[in-house]
Amino acid sequence: MSMKEEQIQRALQIISQRRITAKQQNEERMQEIETRIPAISEINMQLARTSMEVMRIIRDGGDTRPKIEALQKQNLQAHQMVQKLLTQNGYPADYLEIHYTCEKCQDTGYCRTKFCTCLTSLAAKLATEELNHSAQFELSSFSTFSLKYYSNQRTAAGGSCYAAMERVFLFCQEYANQFTSESPSILMFGKTGLGKTHLSLAIANVVLQKGYSVLYDSAINFLRQVEKEHFGRGDGNTDTLDLLLSCDLLIIDDLGTEFHTQFYQSMVYNIINTRMNRKKPTIISTNLDYDGISRQYDERVASRLFTNYTFWQFVGTDVRLLKKQEEQQKG
Ligand SMILES: Nc1ncnc2c1ncn2[C@@H]1O[C@H](COP(=O)(O)OP(=O)(O)OP(=O)(O)O)[C@@H](O)[C@H]1O
Ligand SMILES: [Mg+2]
Ligand SMILES: [Zn+2]
Repeated sequence: MSMKEEQIQRALQIISQRRITAKQQNEERMQEIETRIPAISEINMQLARTSMEVMRIIRDGGDTRPKIEALQKQNLQAHQMVQKLLTQNGYPADYLEIHYTCEKCQDTGYCRTKFCTCLTSLAAKLATEELNHSAQFELSSFSTFSLKYYSNQRTAAGGSCYAAMERVFLFCQEYANQFTSESPSILMFGKTGLGKTHLSLAIANVVLQKGYSVLYDSAINFLRQVEKEHFGRGDGNTDTLDLLLSCDLLIIDDLGTEFHTQFYQSMVYNIINTRMNRKKPTIISTNLDYDGISRQYDERVASRLFTNYTFWQFVGTDVRLLKKQEEQQKG
C-alpha cells in the first residue's frame, strides 16, 4: 500500500466536506436561535453594524486605534451577552460557535503550509482500506494458500518441494503472528508464480490488522514515485521516501525489475541501509537468486541483503499455470 496523491486528494475532499457541514450546522443554529431568542438577533444585527463601522474607520484612515479599541470592547461585551442569553435559555454557551472535526486546522487539512495530521492520517487510512479491498489482497491470505500445489515435485537438489514450501509457509505465518516493529527482514526469491506476492500480502493482512503501518507496492512503483518527488514533479506535499523509511513494515515486491539507473541504485541502497540502521523490518520479493542479486546490485546493497535478511527460496511449478489447468479440467 503506498500512500499516493489520490488518497491525499480524497482525504482533502472529505475534510473540506466536514468544513462545509460544520458551517452549515452553524448557520442552521444561527437561524434557530434568532427566531427563538430575539434579543440575540438584535445583538447580531448590532455586531454586523459594528463591523461595518470598523471597516469604514479603517478605510477613512486617521487615528483609528482608539475608535477600533472601543468597538472591540463593545464587541466582546456583545459576545458575552450572547453566551449569557444562550445559557439562560438552556443552550450551551458555545452553541453558536463553529464546531470543526479538527480544531487545529479548522477542517482545512493544512496547518500553515504543511498537511495537518488529520489529513495524513485520514489518507493513510484510505490507503489501507484500499489495499484491503483490492481483489488480490483479499484472496491472498494464509487460509487461501494451499500446499497441494507443491506436492510430488522435486527441487533441483532432489529435495521435496512440498516440505520446503511448508517451512516457508509456517515461517511466514509465525512471522505475521509474532510481528513487532523490530522483526527481522525477509527476502523471498524464486521463479514466477510460486506464491511470493501471495504470502507477502498474507503477512501484510495480519500485520495491518494488528494496527501497524504497512506499505506494499512493487519496487518500480515505489522508485518512480520517489524519483518524481525528488525531481519536483510530485504534488510537493507527499514525502514517499520518508514514508518508506519510517513505516513499521515495508514490502517491496518484484525487486530487480526496475531500470538500472544511478538514481534507483542509490535509492535502493538508501532504503535498505536506513531501515536496517533503524532496525525496521522489510520484506523483499524477487525473481533474482544470489548470483542475480550480486550481478544487478553493487556490493553495498548485496552484502547488506546477504547478511541482514532471512532468505527464503520458493520452489515448485508456476501456481498460476497449475490453477489454470485446474480450471480447464473442471470444464
Ligand atoms: N500456494 C498457493 N495456494 C494458492 N494460491 C496460490 C499459491 N501460490 C500462488 N498462488 C496464486 O497464484 C498466483 C501467482 O502467485 P504469486 O503472485 O504469489 O506469485 P509470485 O511468486 O509473486 O510470482 P512473480 O514472481 O511472477 O511475481 C496468485 O494469484 C496467487 O494467489
Ligand atoms: Mg509476485
Ligand atoms: Zn486538521
